[in-house]
Amino acid sequence: MEHKGFTLWFTGLSGSGKSAIADDVAKILVHRKMKVERLDGDIVRQSLTKDLGFSKEDRDKNIERVTFVAKLLSRNGVATLVSFISPYREKRDAVRSVIDNFIEVYAKCQLEVLIERDIKGLYKKALNGEIENFTGVSDPYEEPEYPEIVVETDKESLEESVSKVIRWLETNGYVPPACEEEEFITEIEEEEIKKRLETLGYL
Ligand code: ADX
Repeated sequence: MEHKGFTLWFTGLSGSGKSAIADDVAKILVHRKMKVERLDGDIVRQSLTKDLGFSKEDRDKNIERVTFVAKLLSRNGVATLVSFISPYREKRDAVRSVIDNFIEVYAKCQLEVLIERDIKGLYKKALNGEIENFTGVSDPYEEPEYPEIVVETDKESLEESVSKVIRWLETNGYVPPACEEEEFITEIEEEEIKKRLETLGYL
């Protein structure tokens, strides 16, 4: 059966877990035999949008180019997982209006927690004034009003956030549910069961 494409659009502050969740969701979708593509801010900004900075104008251009790609992929049956801060609500709503099957995922995390974690060391720099226009510190982030999915990454584990997304996709008919075998029997276990059955003469 041909799967219908969609765009899972992760928005949220830097370090809120957008990419980590998208990576794990992508792995599960590949396992379920779907065509999957990832578009991630940190990577796309090294190629397709290398020329852009972080002014409002540049961020909007960044999102526009990515939207163009995501739209093509989605309409060709690809599960497209996009993770960008995408801080402006109006821009995200514009994306929603041009991509069919657009699913907004808000990676919600308190700023204090992000500053505390500071995985990339960027919040410290932004707070010291070494980086200008840093989202959440010296640049706005507009929370989604009606996101399809909210993952609270300062309250739930990565695994919980990932399964929240997968469950939403299953419930809404975007992804076939995992068969029991896939969930409960690993390949190694399967191999062991086969050997045992062979020893017993059943195979
Ligand atoms: S967006 O606003 O245009 O959607 P995007 O997701 O592509 O942003 O890139 C964000 C990443 O760029 C951050 O995770 C961080 O690593 C880096 N970055 C560098 N400067 C800034 C800045 N001023 N504001 C936010 N992120 C920045």
